[in-house]
Amino acid sequence: MSKPVALITGANGEIGRALIKRLAEEGRYDVVTLDLVPLAEPLRPFVLASYAGNIMDKYLLDEIVAHHDAIVVFHLAALLSSRGERDPELAHQVNVEGTLHVLRMAQNQSVRLGQPVRFLFPSTIAVYGLPSLAEKAKVGKIREEQWNLPITMYGCNKLYCEHLGRYFAHHYRRQQSGGRVDFRAIRFPGLISADTMPTGGTSDYGPEMLHAAAQKKPYSCFVGPDARIPFMAMPDAISAILALIEANPEKLRATVYNIGGFSISANEIAERARRAFPGADISYNPDAVRASIVDSWPEDVDDFRARRDFGWRHEYDADRAFDEYLLPRITGQKSG
Ligand code: SER
Repeated sequence: MSKPVALITGANGEIGRALIKRLAEEGRYDVVTLDLVPLAEPLRPFVLASYAGNIMDKYLLDEIVAHHDAIVVFHLAALLSSRGERDPELAHQVNVEGTLHVLRMAQNQSVRLGQPVRFLFPSTIAVYGLPSLAEKAKVGKIREEQWNLPITMYGCNKLYCEHLGRYFAHHYRRQQSGGRVDFRAIRFPGLISADTMPTGGTSDYGPEMLHAAAQKKPYSCFVGPDARIPFMAMPDAISAILALIEANPEKLRATVYNIGGFSISANEIAERARRAFPGADISYNPDAVRASIVDSWPEDVDDFRARRDFGWRHEYDADRAFDEYLLPRITGQKSG
């Protein structure tokens, strides 16, 4: 019997690559992918079909779902926060207009298949905008509804698309069309993978610092040593995506969920990198814009709702993330 089909947009990105591998291990879905560039060669054996093209291309989106009965969409394609500040209009196009196209495609697909289409949207701590370091310290673990005042185009785009998804899920011409997008969003902390590097984000100093140390390359950090945000090990991010997409809709009381990993400062990451890779050359040369973005993000998140509604629990705290996942794997790659 054929398996249900899941579509992944932005499949070549960090989350996409890790998700494709996990889905292949678990074998629950046949996976179809879309990315601007052809899917990375090593991932191709894991997917049913892969498309290269732009999510702004409505005809391509329609063609994909005409050929594949996707009942789940992981919409990962996006321009991250630092890249978005360099070209805010392009970020808006990709992050907002692109998301609108993919939501519309999912809505049509739902009508065609006569069943809800589950839609996973990765949102971010960038939707928060703390006005000062004093307020950031005072708030501590932020709740979903606090300080939704992003200072980046990316944060604005993601916050708006959370609402767009909620609109499609609960209000969009539902009576007329009968279809339904079952929209579910996770606000991710900064992500750290042992296998891949992020591009265009502002939490990138975490993974960049660690990978540079492993490769014995000097690293000049673009935020100060005290900059603190929550991070998460990539395997937990993928587990959260799968937990939320599989969750019983009746248990989900919200469309948007914080999920927590571990709160850590740039200096604490540097110290862990120095302990693992003695002689690591890490210095600080803060970039005013990028440092102010990180300062505006919370130091930690309250993920009570995710724990209550879909049983979320992170597996990796800081010690386990570094000692059992990141450092052994990165060291293993280094020595071949
Ligand atoms: N990692 C993202 C960024 O830095 C935040 O979601 O832009």
